[in-house]
Amino acid sequence: MTSERYVFPHKHLLGIEPLSPQDITAILDQARAFEEVCERPSIKIVPALRKKLVVNLFFENSTRTRNSFEIAEKRLSAEIINFDADTSSLNKGETLIDTAMNLEAMHPDLIVMRHSAPGAHALLARHMKASIVNAGDGAHEHPTQALLDAYTLRKHFGNLEGLRVAIVGDIRNSRVVRSNLWLLTRMGAKVTLVGPPTLVPQEMAATWPGIQISHDFDAVIPDQDAIMMLRAQFERGTGAYIPGQGEYSRFFQLNPARMKQAKKDVVVLHPGPINRGLEITSDVADGPRNLILDQVTNGVPVRMAVLYLLSHPHGEQVP
Ligand code: CP
Repeated sequence: MTSERYVFPHKHLLGIEPLSPQDITAILDQARAFEEVCERPSIKIVPALRKKLVVNLFFENSTRTRNSFEIAEKRLSAEIINFDADTSSLNKGETLIDTAMNLEAMHPDLIVMRHSAPGAHALLARHMKASIVNAGDGAHEHPTQALLDAYTLRKHFGNLEGLRVAIVGDIRNSRVVRSNLWLLTRMGAKVTLVGPPTLVPQEMAATWPGIQISHDFDAVIPDQDAIMMLRAQFERGTGAYIPGQGEYSRFFQLNPARMKQAKKDVVVLHPGPINRGLEITSDVADGPRNLILDQVTNGVPVRMAVLYLLSHPHGEQVP
């Protein structure tokens, strides 16, 4: 008896929402193969994207995502252009679509983009032949962050099914939480959103039925296998939703006192950048239960897997 071979069915990665559990598993499994490449003592490079041109288009600041994509592209032997928004003709009034169409005229195979406008990637995907990878669009989605979070959790716990995950803090402004909600609920994890009522939109329970919403962090902590802290995003207006930073920390900061209430084997995640002393204290962020830099390390093979599967949906040229 033969089983049908899996083919990755997506031309773009615009978000986690369109991915099936099988697609997510395929990316995480492919990332496992690429993690072995990344751990090689000498040559950490495979030819999987040789002669493919990747344009990295970052219209918002980034440390982790931008460098992680660039390293992933280099490890796959791609040719890379890093578009510099600050010195581009955007400053002369050129539109995003015109910018993208002009880049398209140079025949890139993949475009990795971060943009402040939710849906900017979907707009580009309608106009372009290249595969579009969403590296963050406003407060909408950050799919590769959710994939690397899932990879980190799966590597630690072996499985996502039934895992209890609290996502805590500035839910309202977070694209990380939206991608994680699609992914974790689709893979059978039990998610609780925690934050002040002003930062946790109640309508999220309608979009993701089955999730829990709590405003009492202390009550939620003891049941969790993983606690994912979110950055308070003051550049997106979080300050208007909280009485003050001291009050916010008092109720929603992950600190040693709260860690004492958690399971002994709980793990702590944070997508970064961290507001040390606000949503998390340094002794927890750097402490023995944190997987924060593991998340960053895992981002490279996960992004390699995404770029590879978009370019080789049949899985040919496996390293
Ligand atoms: N996690 C994340 O997206 O970090 P950067 O903004 O530094 O890319």
